[in-house]
Amino acid sequence: MSKKNVSHTKWMKRAIFLASLGRNTTSPNPNVGAVILDKNGNLISEGFHYKAGMPHAEAMAFEKLNKNAKGGTMYVNLEPCCHHGRTPPCVEKVISSGIKKIYISVKDPDKRVSGKGIKLLKEAGIQVDLGLCKKESLELNKAFIHRNITNKAFGVLKWAMSIDGRVALKNGKSKWITNEESRSLVHSLRAEFDAIIIGGNTLRKDNPLLTTRGSKKTEPLRVVFTKSLDLPSKSNLWDCSRAKTLVIYDSSTANESYLTRLPKSVEVEKVSSDNPELISKILADRGCNKVLWECGPRLATAAIQSRCIQEIITFIAPKILGGENSMNPFGDFEFEQMNEIIKLSDSQVSLIGNDICVKSSFKN
Ligand SMILES: NC(=O)c1ccc[n+]([C@@H]2O[C@H](COP(=O)([O-])OP(=O)(O)OC[C@H]3O[C@@H](n4cnc5c(N)ncnc54)[C@H](OP(=O)(O)O)[C@@H]3O)[C@@H](O)[C@H]2O)c1
Ligand SMILES: [Zn+2]
Repeated sequence: MSKKNVSHTKWMKRAIFLASLGRNTTSPNPNVGAVILDKNGNLISEGFHYKAGMPHAEAMAFEKLNKNAKGGTMYVNLEPCCHHGRTPPCVEKVISSGIKKIYISVKDPDKRVSGKGIKLLKEAGIQVDLGLCKKESLELNKAFIHRNITNKAFGVLKWAMSIDGRVALKNGKSKWITNEESRSLVHSLRAEFDAIIIGGNTLRKDNPLLTTRGSKKTEPLRVVFTKSLDLPSKSNLWDCSRAKTLVIYDSSTANESYLTRLPKSVEVEKVSSDNPELISKILADRGCNKVLWECGPRLATAAIQSRCIQEIITFIAPKILGGENSMNPFGDFEFEQMNEIIKLSDSQVSLIGNDICVKSSFKN
């Protein structure tokens, strides 16, 4: 790599770093960072997008700018917007600033932008370089990109199991399989997500809280998917003072008279079948980029089968639950041949005290 390219990469990495500062707060928007250099290559401003409704990264960088950007260079990890959303288009700001060259890492998959921003910049005589640090930028905004392309939320499935691969005893008891450190890691992990999903049975058996325990100002939406609507009238999830709760039920099987058990503070939505894809779509429509499935084996199996899961996080504890009837993390996928089994990729392994955490991706 030439010296010149090394410095372009350095500035784009700075833009990506700035973008990552909005990692847990920008949904439904993407994570964007911007860096501006003057015509001599000196850093004169930078910015990042923090929250929907607040300035975009480029706008923040221009707001802070107190030097002339004419003839300068901009680095931004996502194509600047060209539509009037909650804030005016960034492309107009870039053009009027007199910037000569812009490095853009990846195109914006949002149909209102998707190449149109680049076209406008080029038409205004600005040199556009597309693709610098593409891999890192795709990784940072993978959930936003996934939602825009598929209209479904990017799903991560998390479960905790013993070293003999069990997630609960046969009577449903599962508190606690992992150590305290792993459990507290899960609380902070939840901050990366816009919603946490469980099935009705996990609610009945575990009565979970599903919060970040304060590590995120606005707690993720807690979602219960139920076929029966046979949910208890008392539950930790019904207290919506700290985190909101949404119950989604399958109207083809549910007993709607059970709706009276739910307090008014709990939001309710009905769907026409038990296909988890419907959950993923509803949450994407609500602006959730990334959702965490913390369900038990039955819903987890259905979620994988309906391609709602893009990554998994498994906590494995050195404990033995034993017994043929204690629960596996999944139900039956009905595979007959070894070439049908699910193969995951990009695994990362870490030790949390005595527990092991494995993260892997699906190839779908
Ligand atoms: N170790 C762990 O990481 C972990 C995590 C979560 C749960 N668990 C354990 O898992 C057990 C519960 O397992 P579970 O499999 O019954 O989990 P679940 O998370 O409750 O999912 C199953 C429930 O989801 C609802 N559902 C909606 N659509 C569905 C579909 N297409 N397929 C299947 N279910 C659908 C149904 O609720 P309704 O019955 O209300 O209709 C069903 O009973 C509990 O003992 C809990 O302790 C362990
Ligand atoms: Zn913008």
